[in-house]
Amino acid sequence: QKQGYDWYMRKEIFEQPRAVADTLLGRLNERGELILDEIRISPETLRRIDKIVIVACGTAFYAGLVAKYAIEHWTRIPCEVEVASEFRYRDPIIDPMTLVVTISQSGETADTLMAIRHAREQGAKVIAICNTNGATIPRESDAVIYTHAGPEIGVASTKGFTTQLVACYLLGLYLAQVRGMKYGDEIAALLRELERMPEAIQGMLDNQQQVLDLAREFVNEPSVLFLGRHVGYPVALEGALKLKELAYIHAEGFAAGELKHGPIALIREDLPVFVVVPPRGRDQLRDKVVSNIAEVRARGAKTIVLAEADDEEARAAAAVFIELPKLSTLLQPVAAIIPLQLFACELATVQGHDVDQPRNLAKSVTVE
Ligand code: M6R
Repeated sequence: QKQGYDWYMRKEIFEQPRAVADTLLGRLNERGELILDEIRISPETLRRIDKIVIVACGTAFYAGLVAKYAIEHWTRIPCEVEVASEFRYRDPIIDPMTLVVTISQSGETADTLMAIRHAREQGAKVIAICNTNGATIPRESDAVIYTHAGPEIGVASTKGFTTQLVACYLLGLYLAQVRGMKYGDEIAALLRELERMPEAIQGMLDNQQQVLDLAREFVNEPSVLFLGRHVGYPVALEGALKLKELAYIHAEGFAAGELKHGPIALIREDLPVFVVVPPRGRDQLRDKVVSNIAEVRARGAKTIVLAEADDEEARAAAAVFIELPKLSTLLQPVAAIIPLQLFACELATVQGHDVDQPRNLAKSVTVE
């Protein structure tokens, strides 16, 4: 049931505070430690892992790209991310010391299933992050972390994505905890921050009007670009995918640092360019993204900037400014993707498309 919403997708966007809260439920004990009982791989085995390979498709692949930044930072285990359909065909280097993490909302995606079969044949351990109880992928994995998003009906993944991000963070923090890494205090702080995430998402949803107006303004645009850096880069890719799927317009996500290496040639007068700005940190990432905004603005693009509310420089460089809550850099994608989901949903609605059943797409791709 759509419960008064025009589309399942819109309903699912608005369910994200609850879905994220449910995915976090019961994961923390009273000592502030993370419990992931479902990881039925012994701590000894997890301590011996020397490489992590994440395989997934589409939106789940973008969740995996975010996970790479987080897992490598917290655990110092090298982590690769690969589109599942490419994985087994290149004879990947995996062995019993490799942990393969697979992410799939449906748990039935054929490319992903074939990738994990191949990984297990090579002796790797497989952990699935999945939203569907008892689906084939979790059944064929050594362990599973279920996201508790509830059924996702809209073909475009929304709450599937944000809960996958949360599950990836939990896995990364759990591995760091098991391996006794130096980030003990950081882990506790991040877990507390994750618990506040539903509230942060709700804040984004409560301010949706600005994004809806923007979608109406851009309804006839033939092309939209998305820029991001660090974990903002997969957010840019996912924002572009939503627009392609639903509105059938040319949309591309780029790593902002790549701009000068080619994509800047696409920038023209009035081109809508979304930019995800990282929080201020010790590195100069945020400053660099702010100067990227100036570069595209100078060429006449219409910059839609997503940044922390008190980032006055980013605000000054924006044609439209979308406020993000204060979050750690690694967790920012969970909030930053919300306006991009709303934007694509609304734009496609105004265009008169079927948002829940976009042309040529199936909810679950069960052939390779
Ligand atoms: O069920 P899965 O998570 O394995 O599906 C993977 C992709 O097919 C899926 O994310 C697809 O890209 C969505 N339509 C994105 O909105």
